[in-house]
Amino acid sequence: MQEIIERENIREQKFKETWNGVLGDAFTDLSSYYDAANNVASLGMWNKWRKDFTSGIALRPGMRVLDVCAGTNAVSIQLLKKQPELRITTIDRSQAMQEVGEERIRRLGFDVESVISDVHKLPFPDNTFDIVILEAASRHLRLVEVFSEILRVLKPGGSFYHCDMLKPSSKLLEQAYLAYLKASMFATGRIFRSKGNVRSCADYFIEAIREFYTPEELSLLMRYVGFVDVTDRSIFGGIVAFHEGTHAAVNSELEQTQPGSVIARP
Ligand SMILES: C[S@@+](CC[C@H](N)C(=O)[O-])C[C@H]1O[C@@H](n2cnc3c(N)ncnc32)[C@H](O)[C@@H]1O
Repeated sequence: MQEIIERENIREQKFKETWNGVLGDAFTDLSSYYDAANNVASLGMWNKWRKDFTSGIALRPGMRVLDVCAGTNAVSIQLLKKQPELRITTIDRSQAMQEVGEERIRRLGFDVESVISDVHKLPFPDNTFDIVILEAASRHLRLVEVFSEILRVLKPGGSFYHCDMLKPSSKLLEQAYLAYLKASMFATGRIFRSKGNVRSCADYFIEAIREFYTPEELSLLMRYVGFVDVTDRSIFGGIVAFHEGTHAAVNSELEQTQPGSVIARP
């Protein structure tokens, strides 16, 4: 567990300037072509992975769902296509990404509540949501803090679903993967004529994965925060992984010793 605290501290020290600075501007610049660029960079695979990821989520009418770092609402749209009677709240600090997302939701005749806020403190009462989702944003976050918040806002028995590009367990695979990412980011930058803010994050996007967690480590982190019944499924040796964890009613003791509080924050 000490390892996780150390890694979180290293990630924060290395990236806090980017997280608090240019990254927000980069997502503003990316908002109009984020989905298209994502598709090109992943050779169309990301949409397929998202379908796989969301197909494993059990949905019932009237469920309250929180889409954390919702961006352009791609996950929420996928869920609403499966179950149109969900009550979805999206949260993201980027107004620009959410504006694109809201337009997509409106065009499809769906409805979500959009909240513009940083996700390290979730502006919702305890025990609010049946399901919380987080896709493709964890690399930009202080994870112990955000996962602790997610656990707090989940109802007892509620589930957290996580999907992201992670760090593969094999060093060789990691090197090949990061080399591919670098090349694909360069290519999408040219195709979509990325602006300076996006270009200046190119090295960060690679480094953030180098310092990130393998699927096994992420499961450990989820358990450390207090999730139970944690499962993970890796694709391509951990390049992408799906995680699920539950908020157990019996977890109140664990929650009182929340690990988020032991990490010193500036
Ligand atoms: C790569 S996009 C992913 C969007 C969406 N989940 C998806 O899968 O398409 C990452 C999103 O995280 C948001 N984000 C990054 N750091 C954040 C923070 N501290 N608080 C809230 N949103 C944040 C960005 O604004 C961006 O919209």
